[in-house]
Amino acid sequence: MYWKELVEVQNFGFNAITISAIIIVIFSILESWGIYKQNKKIWDKKSGESVSVAWFIYFMFMLFSYFVYGIFTKEAAIIINGLASLFVVPIVVGLWRFKGFSKIDFFVFLLCVLGFVVMLIFPFKKIMFLLFSFGSILALIAQLVEMHKTKAVGVIEIKLIRVYLVSTAVFVVYSIFVNDWPLLIISVLSFILLVIILLSYYRFMAGSTFNDIRSTTYYNRIKIGFSSLVKKWKGSEAVFTEHTLEIEGHPVMEDWEDGYMKELAEIACMNGGDILEVGFGMGISSGYIHKHDILSHTVIEANEDVYKRLVMFSFIAKHIIKPLFGFWQEITKFIPSETFDGILFDTYPITKEEIHKNHFPFFCEAFRLLKDGGVLTYYSDEIDSFSEEHINCLRRAGFTDIQSMVCVVNPPQDCKYWKSDRILAPIIFKGRKGGE
Ligand SMILES: C[S@@+](CC[C@H](N)C(=O)[O-])C[C@H]1O[C@@H](n2cnc3c(N)ncnc32)[C@H](O)[C@@H]1O
Repeated sequence: MYWKELVEVQNFGFNAITISAIIIVIFSILESWGIYKQNKKIWDKKSGESVSVAWFIYFMFMLFSYFVYGIFTKEAAIIINGLASLFVVPIVVGLWRFKGFSKIDFFVFLLCVLGFVVMLIFPFKKIMFLLFSFGSILALIAQLVEMHKTKAVGVIEIKLIRVYLVSTAVFVVYSIFVNDWPLLIISVLSFILLVIILLSYYRFMAGSTFNDIRSTTYYNRIKIGFSSLVKKWKGSEAVFTEHTLEIEGHPVMEDWEDGYMKELAEIACMNGGDILEVGFGMGISSGYIHKHDILSHTVIEANEDVYKRLVMFSFIAKHIIKPLFGFWQEITKFIPSETFDGILFDTYPITKEEIHKNHFPFFCEAFRLLKDGGVLTYYSDEIDSFSEEHINCLRRAGFTDIQSMVCVVNPPQDCKYWKSDRILAPIIFKGRKGGE
Protein backbone atom coordinates (compact mmCIF):
# COMPACT_ATOMS: atom_id res chain seq x y z
CA MET A 1 0.00 0.00 0.00
CA TYR A 2 1.55 3.29 -1.20
CA TRP A 3 0.01 5.43 1.55
CA LYS A 4 1.68 3.33 4.25
CA GLU A 5 5.04 4.22 2.71
CA LEU A 6 4.40 7.97 2.95
CA VAL A 7 7.06 9.76 5.00
CA GLU A 8 4.41 11.42 7.19
CA VAL A 9 2.69 8.11 7.94
CA GLN A 10 5.96 6.39 8.84
CA ASN A 11 7.07 9.26 11.11
CA PHE A 12 3.72 10.23 12.56
CA GLY A 13 4.02 11.82 16.00
CA PHE A 14 5.13 15.02 17.72
CA ASN A 15 8.18 15.67 15.56
CA ALA A 16 9.49 18.13 12.94
CA ILE A 17 8.23 16.01 9.99
CA THR A 18 4.62 15.88 11.22
CA ILE A 19 4.54 19.54 12.26
CA SER A 20 6.03 20.77 8.98
CA ALA A 21 3.60 18.55 7.02
CA ILE A 22 0.64 20.07 8.90
CA ILE A 23 1.96 23.59 8.20
CA ILE A 24 2.44 22.84 4.49
CA VAL A 25 -1.07 21.36 4.21
CA ILE A 26 -2.67 24.35 5.98
CA PHE A 27 -0.91 26.80 3.67
CA SER A 28 -1.70 24.69 0.60
CA ILE A 29 -5.39 24.98 1.48
CA LEU A 30 -5.05 28.74 2.01
CA GLU A 31 -3.12 29.09 -1.26
CA SER A 32 -5.80 27.10 -3.11
CA TRP A 33 -8.44 29.48 -1.73
CA GLY A 34 -6.41 32.47 -2.98
CA ILE A 35 -5.98 30.83 -6.39
CA TYR A 36 -9.72 30.09 -6.53
CA LYS A 37 -10.47 33.77 -5.79
CA GLN A 38 -8.07 34.87 -8.53
CA ASN A 39 -9.71 32.48 -10.97
CA LYS A 40 -13.17 33.81 -10.09
CA LYS A 41 -12.08 37.40 -10.64
CA ILE A 42 -10.61 36.68 -14.08
CA TRP A 43 -13.73 34.79 -15.25
CA ASP A 44 -16.20 37.24 -13.64
CA LYS A 45 -14.52 40.27 -15.21
CA LYS A 46 -13.63 38.38 -18.38
CA SER A 47 -10.24 40.10 -18.26
CA GLY A 48 -6.61 39.39 -17.53
CA GLU A 49 -5.66 43.05 -17.09
CA SER A 50 -2.42 43.56 -15.11
CA VAL A 51 -2.06 39.81 -14.45
CA SER A 52 1.10 38.22 -15.85
CA VAL A 53 0.22 35.20 -18.01
CA ALA A 54 3.83 33.95 -17.74
CA TRP A 55 3.57 33.98 -13.95
CA PHE A 56 0.51 31.73 -13.88
CA ILE A 57 1.81 29.38 -16.59
CA TYR A 58 4.93 28.97 -14.52
CA PHE A 59 3.00 28.70 -11.26
CA MET A 60 0.89 25.89 -12.75
CA PHE A 61 3.89 23.87 -13.90
CA MET A 62 5.77 24.52 -10.68
CA LEU A 63 2.88 23.01 -8.73
CA PHE A 64 2.73 20.09 -11.23
CA SER A 65 6.41 19.51 -10.50
CA TYR A 66 5.72 19.55 -6.73
CA PHE A 67 3.09 16.88 -7.25
CA VAL A 68 5.49 14.65 -9.18
CA TYR A 69 8.29 15.27 -6.70
CA GLY A 70 5.98 14.47 -3.76
CA ILE A 71 4.97 11.16 -5.37
CA PHE A 72 8.62 10.35 -5.98
CA THR A 73 9.82 11.21 -2.45
CA LYS A 74 6.60 9.85 -0.90
CA GLU A 75 5.88 13.14 0.89
CA ALA A 76 2.12 13.64 1.29
CA ALA A 77 2.42 17.36 2.15
CA ILE A 78 4.26 18.11 -1.12
CA ILE A 79 1.71 16.04 -3.08
CA ILE A 80 -1.13 18.07 -1.50
CA ASN A 81 0.72 21.32 -2.22
CA GLY A 82 1.09 20.21 -5.84
CA LEU A 83 -2.63 19.48 -6.09
CA ALA A 84 -3.28 23.25 -5.83
CA SER A 85 -2.19 23.26 -9.50
CA LEU A 86 -5.70 22.04 -10.37
CA PHE A 87 -7.02 25.46 -9.36
CA VAL A 88 -4.42 27.23 -11.51
CA VAL A 89 -5.42 25.43 -14.72
CA PRO A 90 -8.67 27.44 -15.19
CA ILE A 91 -6.72 30.65 -14.51
CA VAL A 92 -4.34 29.87 -17.37
CA VAL A 93 -7.30 28.96 -19.62
CA GLY A 94 -9.06 32.22 -18.64
CA LEU A 95 -5.95 34.28 -19.35
CA TRP A 96 -5.49 32.56 -22.70
CA ARG A 97 -9.11 33.32 -23.57
CA PHE A 98 -9.46 36.89 -22.28
CA LYS A 99 -5.93 38.18 -22.67
CA GLY A 100 -4.14 35.88 -25.08
CA PHE A 101 -0.59 34.53 -24.93
CA SER A 102 2.32 36.71 -26.05
CA LYS A 103 5.41 35.18 -27.70
CA ILE A 104 7.13 35.22 -24.28
CA ASP A 105 4.16 33.43 -22.71
CA PHE A 106 4.33 30.71 -25.40
CA PHE A 107 8.06 30.41 -24.81
CA VAL A 108 7.54 30.03 -21.04
CA PHE A 109 4.84 27.44 -21.71
CA LEU A 110 7.10 25.35 -23.98
CA LEU A 111 10.02 25.64 -21.57
CA CYS A 112 7.81 24.48 -18.69
CA VAL A 113 6.43 21.54 -20.72
CA LEU A 114 10.00 20.54 -21.57
CA GLY A 115 11.14 20.84 -17.94
CA PHE A 116 8.14 18.87 -16.76
CA VAL A 117 8.69 16.06 -19.29
CA VAL A 118 12.37 15.86 -18.30
CA MET A 119 11.30 15.62 -14.67
CA LEU A 120 8.85 12.81 -15.47
CA ILE A 121 11.31 10.76 -17.54
CA PHE A 122 14.69 11.22 -15.86
CA PRO A 123 15.68 10.30 -12.31
CA PHE A 124 17.17 13.69 -11.26
CA LYS A 125 13.84 14.83 -9.83
CA LYS A 126 15.34 16.83 -6.95
CA ILE A 127 17.35 19.01 -9.36
CA MET A 128 14.26 19.70 -11.49
CA PHE A 129 12.23 20.41 -8.35
CA LEU A 130 14.83 22.98 -7.25
CA LEU A 131 15.05 24.45 -10.76
CA PHE A 132 11.28 24.93 -10.86
CA SER A 133 11.37 26.48 -7.39
CA PHE A 134 14.17 28.91 -8.32
CA GLY A 135 12.38 29.81 -11.57
CA SER A 136 9.43 31.07 -9.54
CA ILE A 137 11.55 34.12 -8.69
CA LEU A 138 11.65 35.06 -12.39
CA ALA A 139 7.90 34.43 -12.67
CA LEU A 140 7.25 36.83 -9.78
CA ILE A 141 9.43 39.43 -11.50
CA ALA A 142 7.24 39.00 -14.61
CA GLN A 143 4.17 39.85 -12.50
CA LEU A 144 5.87 42.93 -11.09
CA VAL A 145 6.85 44.12 -14.58
CA GLU A 146 3.29 43.58 -15.85
CA MET A 147 1.83 45.71 -13.05
CA HIS A 148 4.29 48.51 -13.64
CA LYS A 149 3.66 48.38 -17.38
CA THR A 150 -0.10 48.84 -16.94
CA LYS A 151 0.25 51.05 -13.83
CA ALA A 152 -2.98 49.50 -12.63
CA VAL A 153 -4.24 46.74 -10.37
CA GLY A 154 -6.55 45.35 -13.06
CA VAL A 155 -7.94 41.98 -12.02
CA ILE A 156 -5.12 41.06 -9.65
CA GLU A 157 -6.64 39.27 -6.65
CA ILE A 158 -4.95 40.81 -3.63
CA LYS A 159 -6.13 37.95 -1.40
CA LEU A 160 -3.89 35.58 -3.36
CA ILE A 161 -0.87 37.89 -2.98
CA ARG A 162 -1.51 38.22 0.77
CA VAL A 163 -1.90 34.47 1.31
CA TYR A 164 1.17 33.78 -0.80
CA LEU A 165 3.14 36.34 1.21
CA VAL A 166 2.16 34.83 4.56
CA SER A 167 2.95 31.28 3.43
CA THR A 168 6.32 32.45 2.06
CA ALA A 169 7.10 34.08 5.42
CA VAL A 170 6.33 30.77 7.13
CA PHE A 171 8.67 28.99 4.72
CA VAL A 172 11.45 31.46 5.54
CA VAL A 173 11.15 30.52 9.22
CA TYR A 174 10.76 26.83 8.41
CA SER A 175 13.84 26.70 6.15
CA ILE A 176 15.97 28.32 8.87
CA PHE A 177 14.58 25.82 11.36
CA VAL A 178 15.39 22.77 9.18
CA ASN A 179 18.60 24.33 7.81
CA ASP A 180 17.47 24.05 4.17
CA TRP A 181 19.56 26.71 2.34
CA PRO A 182 18.08 26.43 -1.17
CA LEU A 183 14.57 26.77 0.30
CA LEU A 184 15.71 29.73 2.43
CA ILE A 185 17.13 31.59 -0.59
CA ILE A 186 13.99 30.97 -2.66
CA SER A 187 11.68 31.94 0.21
CA VAL A 188 13.55 35.14 1.08
CA LEU A 189 13.70 36.33 -2.55
CA SER A 190 10.03 35.44 -3.11
CA PHE A 191 9.10 37.25 0.09
CA ILE A 192 10.90 40.43 -1.00
CA LEU A 193 9.26 40.33 -4.44
CA LEU A 194 5.81 39.72 -2.98
CA VAL A 195 6.21 42.68 -0.61
CA ILE A 196 7.12 44.88 -3.63
CA ILE A 197 4.10 43.53 -5.56
CA LEU A 198 1.83 44.24 -2.58
CA LEU A 199 3.17 47.79 -2.18
CA SER A 200 2.83 48.42 -5.93
CA TYR A 201 -0.75 47.18 -5.75
CA TYR A 202 -1.61 49.67 -3.00
CA ARG A 203 0.21 52.46 -4.80
CA PHE A 204 -1.71 51.94 -8.05
CA MET A 205 -4.93 51.42 -6.18
CA ALA A 206 -4.55 54.68 -4.21
CA GLY A 207 -3.83 56.56 -7.41
CA SER A 208 -7.00 55.37 -9.07
CA THR A 209 -9.50 55.71 -6.19
CA PHE A 210 -11.43 52.77 -7.75
CA ASN A 211 -10.91 49.38 -6.19
CA ASP A 212 -12.31 47.51 -9.17
CA ILE A 213 -11.80 47.18 -12.89
CA ARG A 214 -12.22 50.96 -13.25
CA SER A 215 -8.71 51.43 -11.86
CA THR A 216 -7.53 50.17 -15.26
CA THR A 217 -9.72 52.48 -17.33
CA TYR A 218 -8.72 55.33 -15.03
CA TYR A 219 -5.05 54.75 -15.84
CA ASN A 220 -5.74 54.25 -19.53
CA ARG A 221 -7.04 57.80 -19.64
CA ILE A 222 -4.17 59.16 -17.55
CA LYS A 223 -1.75 57.50 -19.99
CA ILE A 224 -3.46 59.14 -22.98
CA GLY A 225 -3.20 62.46 -21.15
CA PHE A 226 -5.29 65.61 -21.00
CA SER A 227 -4.64 68.96 -22.58
CA SER A 228 -3.96 71.67 -19.99
CA LEU A 229 -6.18 73.93 -22.09
CA VAL A 230 -9.69 72.51 -21.66
CA LYS A 231 -11.15 74.86 -24.29
CA LYS A 232 -8.90 73.27 -26.93
CA TRP A 233 -11.38 70.36 -26.99
CA LYS A 234 -13.81 72.51 -28.96
CA GLY A 235 -11.52 72.83 -31.99
CA SER A 236 -9.78 69.43 -31.77
CA GLU A 237 -10.24 67.06 -34.69
CA ALA A 238 -12.93 64.43 -34.13
CA VAL A 239 -11.82 61.18 -35.77
CA PHE A 240 -14.81 59.04 -36.75
CA THR A 241 -14.63 55.43 -37.93
CA GLU A 242 -17.60 53.18 -38.60
CA HIS A 243 -17.62 52.04 -34.97
CA THR A 244 -15.75 54.67 -32.94
CA LEU A 245 -15.16 58.34 -32.21
CA GLU A 246 -11.79 59.59 -31.00
CA ILE A 247 -10.87 63.12 -29.89
CA GLU A 248 -7.37 64.14 -28.70
CA GLY A 249 -6.46 60.42 -28.68
CA HIS A 250 -9.30 59.59 -26.26
CA PRO A 251 -11.84 56.86 -27.05
CA VAL A 252 -14.84 59.17 -26.67
CA MET A 253 -17.51 56.81 -28.00
CA GLU A 254 -17.78 53.26 -29.38
CA ASP A 255 -20.81 51.58 -30.87
CA TRP A 256 -20.80 48.56 -28.52
CA GLU A 257 -22.75 51.00 -26.31
CA ASP A 258 -25.68 50.87 -28.73
CA GLY A 259 -27.98 48.80 -26.49
CA TYR A 260 -27.11 50.91 -23.45
CA MET A 261 -27.82 54.12 -25.38
CA LYS A 262 -31.17 52.67 -26.48
CA GLU A 263 -32.03 52.04 -22.82
CA LEU A 264 -30.95 55.55 -21.75
CA ALA A 265 -33.03 57.09 -24.56
CA GLU A 266 -36.03 55.07 -23.42
CA ILE A 267 -35.63 56.34 -19.85
CA ALA A 268 -35.11 59.97 -20.91
CA CYS A 269 -38.21 59.86 -23.13
CA MET A 270 -40.56 58.03 -20.74
CA ASN A 271 -42.51 61.27 -20.07
CA GLY A 272 -42.41 62.40 -23.71
CA GLY A 273 -42.33 66.23 -23.97
CA ASP A 274 -39.12 68.28 -24.16
CA ILE A 275 -35.84 66.41 -23.97
CA LEU A 276 -32.35 67.74 -23.26
CA GLU A 277 -29.31 65.76 -24.39
CA VAL A 278 -25.77 66.71 -23.43
CA GLY A 279 -23.01 65.29 -25.68
CA PHE A 280 -23.92 64.20 -29.22
CA GLY A 281 -20.91 61.93 -29.91
CA MET A 282 -21.81 59.44 -32.63
CA GLY A 283 -25.48 60.40 -32.41
CA ILE A 284 -26.51 56.89 -31.33
CA SER A 285 -28.65 57.97 -28.37
CA SER A 286 -30.03 60.89 -30.43
CA GLY A 287 -31.17 58.38 -33.03
CA TYR A 288 -33.02 56.39 -30.38
CA ILE A 289 -34.55 59.52 -28.81
CA HIS A 290 -36.18 60.26 -32.18
CA LYS A 291 -37.88 56.88 -32.16
CA HIS A 292 -39.97 58.15 -29.22
CA ASP A 293 -42.98 60.38 -29.15
CA ILE A 294 -41.47 63.68 -28.00
CA LEU A 295 -42.08 67.40 -28.58
CA SER A 296 -38.54 68.74 -28.89
CA HIS A 297 -34.91 67.70 -28.53
CA THR A 298 -32.27 70.19 -27.39
CA VAL A 299 -28.67 68.97 -27.81
CA ILE A 300 -25.55 70.58 -26.36
CA GLU A 301 -22.23 69.57 -27.96
CA ALA A 302 -18.78 70.96 -27.19
CA ASN A 303 -16.72 69.75 -30.15
CA GLU A 304 -16.97 71.62 -33.45
CA ASP A 305 -16.57 68.58 -35.75
CA VAL A 306 -19.17 66.63 -33.76
CA TYR A 307 -21.44 69.68 -33.68
CA LYS A 308 -21.37 69.81 -37.52
CA ARG A 309 -22.69 66.24 -37.55
CA LEU A 310 -25.36 67.24 -35.06
CA VAL A 311 -26.49 70.04 -37.39
CA MET A 312 -26.64 67.57 -40.30
CA PHE A 313 -28.66 65.20 -38.12
CA SER A 314 -31.09 68.01 -37.24
CA PHE A 315 -31.94 68.41 -40.96
CA ILE A 316 -33.13 64.83 -41.29
CA ALA A 317 -34.40 64.15 -37.75
CA LYS A 318 -38.03 63.31 -37.09
CA HIS A 319 -38.59 65.85 -34.30
CA ILE A 320 -37.55 69.47 -33.79
CA ILE A 321 -33.87 69.71 -32.76
CA LYS A 322 -32.24 72.75 -31.14
CA PRO A 323 -28.47 72.25 -31.52
CA LEU A 324 -26.34 74.34 -29.12
CA PHE A 325 -22.57 74.60 -29.44
CA GLY A 326 -20.28 74.78 -26.40
CA PHE A 327 -19.66 73.19 -23.01
CA TRP A 328 -22.83 72.67 -21.00
CA GLN A 329 -21.11 74.64 -18.22
CA GLU A 330 -21.29 77.73 -20.49
CA ILE A 331 -24.74 77.09 -21.92
CA THR A 332 -27.27 75.69 -19.46
CA LYS A 333 -27.24 78.83 -17.30
CA PHE A 334 -29.07 80.59 -20.14
CA ILE A 335 -31.86 77.98 -20.16
CA PRO A 336 -34.79 78.75 -17.81
CA SER A 337 -35.55 76.41 -14.87
CA GLU A 338 -38.10 73.62 -15.30
CA THR A 339 -37.77 73.44 -19.09
CA PHE A 340 -37.38 69.70 -19.67
CA ASP A 341 -39.35 66.48 -19.13
CA GLY A 342 -36.30 64.28 -19.60
CA ILE A 343 -32.52 64.66 -19.71
CA LEU A 344 -29.90 62.32 -21.17
CA PHE A 345 -26.38 63.33 -20.13
CA ASP A 346 -23.38 61.67 -21.77
CA THR A 347 -20.24 63.81 -22.04
CA TYR A 348 -16.63 62.70 -21.72
CA PRO A 349 -14.03 63.50 -19.02
CA ILE A 350 -11.78 66.28 -20.29
CA THR A 351 -9.66 66.56 -17.14
CA LYS A 352 -8.08 63.98 -14.82
CA GLU A 353 -10.44 64.96 -12.00
CA GLU A 354 -13.47 64.20 -14.17
CA ILE A 355 -12.54 60.57 -14.92
CA HIS A 356 -15.54 58.35 -14.19
CA LYS A 357 -17.16 61.38 -12.47
CA ASN A 358 -17.89 63.90 -15.23
CA HIS A 359 -21.63 63.69 -14.53
CA PHE A 360 -21.41 64.67 -10.83
CA PRO A 361 -21.16 68.47 -11.36
CA PHE A 362 -24.17 68.37 -13.70
CA PHE A 363 -26.66 67.00 -11.15
CA CYS A 364 -27.57 70.42 -9.66
CA GLU A 365 -28.19 71.89 -13.12
CA ALA A 366 -30.24 68.82 -14.06
CA PHE A 367 -32.42 69.31 -10.99
CA ARG A 368 -33.00 72.98 -11.86
CA LEU A 369 -33.73 72.28 -15.53
CA LEU A 370 -36.19 69.42 -14.98
CA LYS A 371 -39.91 69.95 -14.59
CA ASP A 372 -41.52 68.37 -11.54
CA GLY A 373 -41.72 64.61 -12.22
CA GLY A 374 -39.04 64.94 -14.92
CA VAL A 375 -36.44 62.20 -15.31
CA LEU A 376 -32.65 62.30 -15.52
CA THR A 377 -30.50 59.53 -16.94
CA TYR A 378 -26.86 59.44 -17.93
CA TYR A 379 -23.80 57.34 -18.72
CA SER A 380 -23.31 56.29 -15.11
CA ASP A 381 -19.74 54.95 -14.91
CA GLU A 382 -21.12 52.50 -12.34
CA ILE A 383 -21.08 48.73 -12.76
CA ASP A 384 -24.18 47.48 -10.94
CA SER A 385 -24.93 49.88 -8.08
CA PHE A 386 -24.36 53.49 -7.14
CA SER A 387 -21.35 54.29 -4.97
CA GLU A 388 -22.03 56.17 -1.76
CA GLU A 389 -20.28 59.22 -3.20
CA HIS A 390 -22.55 59.03 -6.24
CA ILE A 391 -25.77 58.79 -4.18
CA ASN A 392 -24.68 61.65 -1.91
CA CYS A 393 -24.01 63.80 -4.94
CA LEU A 394 -27.52 63.14 -6.29
CA ARG A 395 -29.08 63.85 -2.89
CA ARG A 396 -27.15 67.09 -2.48
CA ALA A 397 -28.55 68.19 -5.84
CA GLY A 398 -32.09 67.63 -4.49
CA PHE A 399 -33.01 64.23 -5.96
CA THR A 400 -34.85 61.88 -3.62
CA ASP A 401 -36.20 59.25 -6.03
CA ILE A 402 -33.10 57.39 -7.19
CA GLN A 403 -33.65 54.23 -9.20
CA SER A 404 -31.61 52.26 -11.68
CA MET A 405 -31.40 49.17 -13.85
CA VAL A 406 -28.41 47.08 -14.84
CA CYS A 407 -27.69 46.76 -18.56
CA VAL A 408 -25.63 43.92 -19.96
CA VAL A 409 -22.95 45.16 -22.36
CA ASN A 410 -20.18 43.55 -24.34
CA PRO A 411 -17.25 45.93 -24.75
CA PRO A 412 -14.39 44.56 -26.86
CA GLN A 413 -11.41 43.34 -24.86
CA ASP A 414 -9.26 46.25 -26.01
CA CYS A 415 -11.83 48.88 -25.01
CA LYS A 416 -9.91 51.51 -23.04
CA TYR A 417 -12.76 53.09 -21.12
CA TRP A 418 -15.08 50.27 -19.96
CA LYS A 419 -14.16 46.72 -18.94
CA SER A 420 -17.21 45.29 -17.22
CA ASP A 421 -20.01 43.30 -18.86
CA ARG A 422 -22.55 45.36 -16.90
CA ILE A 423 -23.29 49.04 -16.64
CA LEU A 424 -25.88 50.87 -14.57
CA ALA A 425 -28.63 52.92 -16.22
CA PRO A 426 -29.83 55.59 -13.74
CA ILE A 427 -33.51 56.50 -13.50
CA ILE A 428 -33.62 59.65 -11.36
CA PHE A 429 -36.88 61.54 -10.87
CA LYS A 430 -37.30 65.12 -9.72
CA GLY A 431 -39.87 65.86 -7.04
CA ARG A 432 -40.79 62.31 -6.17
CA LYS A 433 -39.93 60.24 -3.17
CA GLY A 434 -38.96 56.58 -3.29
CA GLY A 435 -36.49 54.44 -5.17
CA GLU A 436 -32.98 53.44 -3.98
C1 LIG B 1 -19.59 59.83 -25.16
S1 LIG B 1 -19.93 61.01 -26.37
C2 LIG B 1 -21.67 60.99 -26.44
C3 LIG B 1 -22.16 59.75 -27.08
C4 LIG B 1 -23.62 59.78 -27.45
N1 LIG B 1 -24.47 59.56 -26.32
C5 LIG B 1 -23.91 58.74 -28.51
O1 LIG B 1 -24.84 57.96 -28.35
O2 LIG B 1 -23.18 58.68 -29.51
C6 LIG B 1 -19.54 62.46 -25.54
C7 LIG B 1 -19.72 63.76 -26.30
O3 LIG B 1 -19.79 64.81 -25.33
C8 LIG B 1 -19.09 65.94 -25.82
N2 LIG B 1 -18.71 66.71 -24.64
C9 LIG B 1 -17.66 66.49 -23.81
N3 LIG B 1 -17.68 67.38 -22.80
C10 LIG B 1 -18.77 68.16 -22.98
C11 LIG B 1 -19.33 69.23 -22.25
N4 LIG B 1 -18.78 69.66 -21.12
N5 LIG B 1 -20.45 69.80 -22.73
C12 LIG B 1 -21.02 69.35 -23.87
N6 LIG B 1 -20.54 68.33 -24.60
C13 LIG B 1 -19.42 67.74 -24.16
C14 LIG B 1 -17.94 65.33 -26.58
O4 LIG B 1 -17.40 66.24 -27.50
C15 LIG B 1 -18.58 64.12 -27.22
O5 LIG B 1 -19.07 64.41 -28.49
